[in-house]
Amino acid sequence: MTDKETEMTKLAAIQTQGLAALDEVSSTEALEAWRVENLGRSSPVMAVFSSMGKLDKELRPVMGKAANEVRQTLEAALEGRRQKLEEEALQKTLATEKLDVTLPGRPMERGRLHPLTQVLRRIIRIFGDMGYQVYYSPEVETDDYNFTFLNMPPYHPARDMWDTFYTTTEGVLLRTHTSPGQVRVMREHAPEPIRAILPGTTMRYEQISARSEIEFAQVEVLVVGEKVTFAELKGTLDDFAHRMFGEHARTRLRPSHFPFTEPSAEMDVGCFVCGGEGCPVCKETGWLEIGGCGMVHPVVLEYGGYDPEIYSGFAAGMGIDRSTLMRYRIDDIRHFRNNDIRFLRQF
Ligand code: PHE
Repeated sequence: MTDKETEMTKLAAIQTQGLAALDEVSSTEALEAWRVENLGRSSPVMAVFSSMGKLDKELRPVMGKAANEVRQTLEAALEGRRQKLEEEALQKTLATEKLDVTLPGRPMERGRLHPLTQVLRRIIRIFGDMGYQVYYSPEVETDDYNFTFLNMPPYHPARDMWDTFYTTTEGVLLRTHTSPGQVRVMREHAPEPIRAILPGTTMRYEQISARSEIEFAQVEVLVVGEKVTFAELKGTLDDFAHRMFGEHARTRLRPSHFPFTEPSAEMDVGCFVCGGEGCPVCKETGWLEIGGCGMVHPVVLEYGGYDPEIYSGFAAGMGIDRSTLMRYRIDDIRHFRNNDIRFLRQF
């Protein structure tokens, strides 16, 4: 036999033996062992490549080609076997494991909006329908905006109506109502007409109890323009009450006093718990107070940049917490800000 014939026979044997061994392989582990043995660095085919240098020059390309073919054949056979094993494994799982697609899925826990946010959004929608814009003003305010520009200069006794959280910075406090936003909107838009609501958190330094919290939400209503009248204030509040509390909701204004409105009034709506007949919620009066209102005081208009000889306006401020409390008959106002999921889940 020539060198060439010897080498060729050797290669053919490598291939036949490799393929025969592959037929016996029936697991992925065995397949990997086969790969190392038959195609790895110290496998017989690879040995042929490394001993190529010892062959005659003319023989090298021929042998190289033949060895390559054997390697490719083995590689292709390996791949074929791998696929077959995978397919068999899949068939086996499909046959033995059962997937019950009729089992109900695990329900997703759905989040929801805080009851105060829900009420606030309803209010915003109602005023939005009437053409009002929403304006957000700061919760940390200056003494000027919270009091002075609202016609309460320093030491004015009316300041005592609001128990105030002062900060350690002189002249800076936590707003006790949303009214300071009135002057902010006016200063931003004077002398344009204004139709805005200002929702937000307000804070008062009070004893916390089932009926009062130090933190609560208000919505301020502000309209400024030429010839804005008290009748429009009353009409707007009526309209709001009908949309908020139902078509048959009644409203009533009671004379009151605020330094920043003149004249001023308290707004009541017919008790939505008893329908006005009298119950413990309305303390047998048939009415529930929802906030204060009035015609914007000339001094406030001036601070806002409007000439009170030309412009007039009305303002109202409503508390959200108390009416939400009554609406859902919640027994304790502290639930709102306790973050107890068992409470929040109910809305
Ligand atoms: N800011 C007042 C309060 O918190 C309510 C109010 C607003 C009254 C606007 C009149 C006009 O008590």
